[in-house]
Amino acid sequence: MRFTRRTALAVVGVAALLAPAACGSGDDSGGSGGKNVEVFTWWADGGEKAGLDGLVSTFGTACPDYTFVNGAVAGGAGANAKQVLASRLQQGDPPDTFQAHAGAELQDYINAGQIEDLSAQYKEWGLTEALPKGLLDNLTVDGKIYSVPSNIHRANVLWSNKSVLSKAGITSEPKSLDELFANLDKLKNSGVAAPLAVGKDWTQLMLLESVLITDLGPEKFTGLWNGSTDWNGADVAKGIEDFKKLLSYSNKDRDTFDWTDAEKLVMDGKAGYQLMGDWEAADLDAKGFKDYGYSVFPGNGETFQWLADSFVLPKGAKNPEGTKCWLKTVGSAEGQKAFNTKKGSIPARTDANAADYPAYQQTAIAAWKTATQVPSCAHGSACSQGFQGAANSALGKFSSDQNVGELQKAMAAGAKQFAKK
Ligand code: GAL
Repeated sequence: MRFTRRTALAVVGVAALLAPAACGSGDDSGGSGGKNVEVFTWWADGGEKAGLDGLVSTFGTACPDYTFVNGAVAGGAGANAKQVLASRLQQGDPPDTFQAHAGAELQDYINAGQIEDLSAQYKEWGLTEALPKGLLDNLTVDGKIYSVPSNIHRANVLWSNKSVLSKAGITSEPKSLDELFANLDKLKNSGVAAPLAVGKDWTQLMLLESVLITDLGPEKFTGLWNGSTDWNGADVAKGIEDFKKLLSYSNKDRDTFDWTDAEKLVMDGKAGYQLMGDWEAADLDAKGFKDYGYSVFPGNGETFQWLADSFVLPKGAKNPEGTKCWLKTVGSAEGQKAFNTKKGSIPARTDANAADYPAYQQTAIAAWKTATQVPSCAHGSACSQGFQGAANSALGKFSSDQNVGELQKAMAAGAKQFAKK
């Protein structure tokens, strides 16, 4: 075979696809006495990888008998990882541990009988006292607790390029959607190609959720996910209209963009703003970009849209003892500090010292204590994976057809189909 650039790329691609599975089924990972602990995440680059690296270094010290094996599959919000994971779970080939969002998404794995009860470990490791009650409730089903949270992220943050805003004459943070639209117009008039940077489906779902928090208020917004707010209401229609108007200020190639591609538009001065979770703080830091600003999405007031990454012990994991050592590290004060100072998130534990954290996280730690909390569908705290998939495809369709009524109908149908039993 002639070794052309195309064959080289194909070989690299196949190797990348095989890598995680091969790591998990290597000879010394399985059975008793195995050392390897395959940790499956989607934290492959930038600030996400830096956070994972922090945790891995604490694991190295705390669990010297075991070896971390990186099973990460790249792609924001687990867009690719979740598919790979689903097929491995189906084939009875689970990694030793995997990342799962607290709340409805975790419940999917519990309902499917795919993960173990960790209640005894919670007692042994003192986690019941160390974690806040609201979060514990989101990890518990029928009195049993199934995962160890590493952090709490905030989803409803508007990031900006300060120089780009200042060149456009923008001097203050937008406090309402009207003010945001006025600023987007200023950016457009100053020649910024895509005033608002947007990525594909799940990033659009995040933007829609932020707009709905503004237009419905936190209580009615939460009701969209627990069945107490009707998706067919006029207030939801108004929210989708506002969302549609926001998309008109975005980059046209949004449907091919991951969140980091949209972030690059902000870094390169080709966009002014981006709505994204606070993993963006860590990623901008990791990439050395300092000229960024942040504020809560306009009109969200004191609402903190939360999500939490957590780790589980899958049924049939090859190295359950090694996995327990990983989980203990994830829940420990040292592990949470090593991870969260680099990840943009705040510790799930209540005993952390805010002064250990970068400036952004200090604001988030303070806000978390007093804010009204609402969950996120795009990141699993509010809705099941089924509803999330339906929402992502409805948004993908809306991105091209812009049909407000159809998007509203699709979301209402999703809510009905995936209603909590
Ligand atoms: C979320 C996850 C975060 C971050 C983000 C972007 O779902 O909870 O930790 O990784 O995706 O990939």
